[in-house]
Amino acid sequence: MPLSPLPLNALLFLLIRSNPALFSGRSPLLTHAAAATHSAAASQVWPVPALESSSSSSSSMPAVPSEIEELNALNKRLLQAITDGDWETYKQLCDPSLTCFEPESKGYLVEGLDFHKYYFNLTAAKKTTSVGKEVDASAPAKVTVTNLKIRLLGNETAVVTYNRLMQVMRQGSPETVATEETRVWHKMGDGKKEWKNIHFHRSFPS
Ligand SMILES: *[C@@H]1O[C@H](CO)[C@@H](O)[C@H](O)[C@H]1NC(C)=O
Ligand SMILES: *[C@@H]1O[C@H](CO)[C@@H](O)[C@H](O)[C@H]1NC(C)=O
Repeated sequence: MPLSPLPLNALLFLLIRSNPALFSGRSPLLTHAAAATHSAAASQVWPVPALESSSSSSSSMPAVPSEIEELNALNKRLLQAITDGDWETYKQLCDPSLTCFEPESKGYLVEGLDFHKYYFNLTAAKKTTSVGKEVDASAPAKVTVTNLKIRLLGNETAVVTYNRLMQVMRQGSPETVATEETRVWHKMGDGKKEWKNIHFHRSFPS
């Protein structure tokens, strides 16, 4: 005899009967999930809307820590430096021990800045972009960051995640290159005063 699919309410009934705690708020599973949500808030994951409204005096939102504002600005500067082929700024914002995985590294972990310098050299010479394609010099590339989240781990480490949309003109037509990125920033140097990018992972959406 073939099994007929159970209606949804019958399934729910069976589920409640088999584990009433699941629906009474006493389930260890649900308690755990609630605890996880709470600790995520406590670990300070700051999404874009919080950052954007921070300049207005909204009282309903918790104050955005100054580190978050600073990291947001530094990350923007770094992406602009990549877009502009501005090696001096890039070098200043990255630690010499920077590690990365990115499409250009073909699955290999790359350490140091020289690998990246290669592309900055190309940008200077041929007006290519970090996506490695030759673009129309007359139209500057535009970068848009979406889904930005900044997570502070203590006061010296931060994980910044986002999607980067890069609009470029190629042979007279606009093109958008989308990548997903994670950047780890660490406060370094004398007195641990300066944020440096120490690792990033960049990939094309799969
Ligand atoms: C970049 O260009 C400079 C100046 O031409 C050169 O000395 C350096 O070796 C190049 N670096 C890379 C990684 O290609
Ligand atoms: C980070 O926090 C520790 C402990 O509260 C403090 O001693 C230290 O000065 C802080 N460092 C920075 C860079 O704010």
